[in-house]
This record gives sequence, structure tokens and C-alpha cells, in this order.
Amino acid sequence: MRFPGGEVLIGYGYDAGAFSGRRCWPRLPPCMLCACKRRQLPRKDEMSAGAGAQIQPSLAAIREAQKFLAQYFAETRLIAGPFLSQRTAKNVYLKLETELPTASFKVRGAFYALAQRMKKEAVREVIASSTGNHGAAVAYAAKEFGIAARIFLPANCNPVKRGRIAALGAALVESGGGDLASAFRLAAEYAKQPGVYFLNDATDLDLPAGPATIACEILEQLPKASAIVVPMGDTALIRGIAAAAKQVAPQVRIIGVQAERAPAYYLSWKQGRVVGTETCDTIADGLATRTPEAENVRDVRALVDDVVLVSEEQMLEAIAILLMEEHVLAEPAGAASTAALLKAGEGCGDFPVLLVSGANIPREVLKRAL
Ligand SMILES: Cc1ncc(COP(=O)(O)O)c(C=O)c1O
Repeated sequence: MRFPGGEVLIGYGYDAGAFSGRRCWPRLPPCMLCACKRRQLPRKDEMSAGAGAQIQPSLAAIREAQKFLAQYFAETRLIAGPFLSQRTAKNVYLKLETELPTASFKVRGAFYALAQRMKKEAVREVIASSTGNHGAAVAYAAKEFGIAARIFLPANCNPVKRGRIAALGAALVESGGGDLASAFRLAAEYAKQPGVYFLNDATDLDLPAGPATIACEILEQLPKASAIVVPMGDTALIRGIAAAAKQVAPQVRIIGVQAERAPAYYLSWKQGRVVGTETCDTIADGLATRTPEAENVRDVRALVDDVVLVSEEQMLEAIAILLMEEHVLAEPAGAASTAALLKAGEGCGDFPVLLVSGANIPREVLKRAL
């Protein structure tokens, strides 16, 4: 089914039974508008932690991830952003996930999820389908843990990310398609072999506890944080951060950001059902998702306070501001939080934290920004 604006309805029929065993949310109410079997996804105010629901990942899992990751990585810095503060009349802070190995937050989830799986069973090879940053993180974790890695990339992948993966010694498989769908299909087929673990960051149950540790660090570094602004691709990042924040400091607003040219989760969050898009052609390759997972939509809807769309131009302007004024390098996805603050910062309170989630930017994109 097609909607005005080009989005395509790819699925509905949310019966809690369909998700049994994965998450402990209350049963969803049936659609009140008609006699169809569709069940509406609940809104955040209808389904908060207080409604008897178990937020995932649990605080225990997040604390375990924090302890585990501390063996490998130092806390990333939270720095003040004086230019952005002056421009917005707020006290703006930047969380520099770009300081981690492979220059993005992704190592947090890849290390934790891979270690969890290796505790449960022997892993001969770990594979991932990725636009690049998750693939680089998986390759880095595999190298650290002494196992093989194979990364399935879309055609025309960001060359900086591709180079990082190759340098880490992972096998590379480039799919014919320009988005992640065909890379995913190839990976899923390959994963049928014994001993192969497909670390899919859109659906892996252990992984969000990794990025959740970012929120724990922020809340220790700046207890008065009023909001955390988080770019959204497949949403493991925001689901982890929101789960941690809602359990530790529920007053902190969690604001998601998507690219106008890849708005599938924004549309799904807004409409309360899974809405896919036909394309996701954006310079923010880390945010290029067009087929949301129903469970992720439900969790984002339950835990995220607002979602903002930003244009290509707004992300380019944010890259330039971060580099020239705050001396921070960010790729488009990493600058999306800054773009969102500049576009619609009213709901962020006085102490917003912008997640600078990655810095793997091709030279041509940097030149366009400057
Ligand atoms: C730099 C960067 N920021 C944000 C994201 C979004 O993370 P997630 O897919 O977990 O929503 C990605 C995903 O690839 C990314 O590479």
C-alpha cells in the first residue's frame, strides 16, 4: 500500500503473541477504528516503564556491558560546545563517540554481543551486513577475539569505512544492490553454515546493552543533562540509550533524529505501525534504513520522546559547524544530532547532549560541507 509522500506500508497486525518470548510488553489494544485485526502500537504515554513493562535492555545487562567494555575502551569524552551554546542560548555538550576504535560508537555493541554469543556457543566466523560502521566494529571485535569476520556491504559503500574493514583483515563481500537489503540477503544465506554467527545489529537481543552504556557515561559526566539527541538508523543505538536513561534518569528527554531522505523509522514512530520507504538515499549512510523491524518500532515508540527529521543541507552545515567552530570531525550521521538541535532544539531543555556518533567521512562529502 502506498501513502502520500511515497512511503509504503510493509506490515501490520501487531499481536503481542507474535513477539512472545522476546520482550515483556503488555498486550496491545485492538484497533478501535474499524473491525480489522490490526493492533495499534501503543504510544509512549500509554506504555511507559510504569505500566508493568520490562524495559529492555535491563539495567543489570547494561551494567554488565559497562563492566565488560571497560576492559577494552576508555570512557569517551563529553565536551562543552561553546559555539553551539551561544547560538542556541543553551549549555550544549558533545559526546565524542568518534574517539573509539574504528571512529564510531559501534564497537560497544559489537564487542558485547559477540562476547555474549561466544559464551553460549563456539563461533568460527562472525558476519555482518552493514553500510560500514557496524561492519568495521565487527571486524575489529573479531580480530580482538581471534576469530574470522566477513562483512557484506552494499554497492558503492563509503570508501573510508570499506578501507577500515579491509585493513582489519575481514573478508569483504560487496552486493549488487545500492542499499542494505541485498547485502542482508547474501549474509542471511551465508549464515546457514554451522559455526557462523550473523551479528545483525537491527535485531540482535544482546547488542543494545552496548550502546546503552553511552547513556550511563553521559549521566555520570553530566547529571543535569536535560536531553540526549541521538541519530537513528536501525535504532539499536537509540533503543539502548533510551532504555538506560529511562531506568536511571527518566526525566532526561530522548530525541531521535532521522534523515529526511531516509525517514522509515520516523514515519513508523509517528504513525504507530511499520512504514517502509522505497528508497533511503542520503549522505548519512549510517542512517540509511528503509525497512523497519516491528519490534524496534514498538520500542522506539515506547521509549523515545520525539523524533526530528533533518535535510542533507542541514547535516552538511552541522558538519562544518562542528569542524570549524567546535573542532570536532563528524560524518553526516554523526552530525545529524547537531543539525536537529539547530533545527528544532526547543524541546531539549537547558543542557542538551548531542551524540557525535561517527567520524568516517569521505573527502568529497567533507569538501561539500566546507
Ligand atoms: C555514525 C552512525 N551514527 C548513527 C548510526 C545509527 O545507529 P543505529 O543503526 O543503531 O540506529 C549509525 C549506524 O550505522 C552510524 O554509523
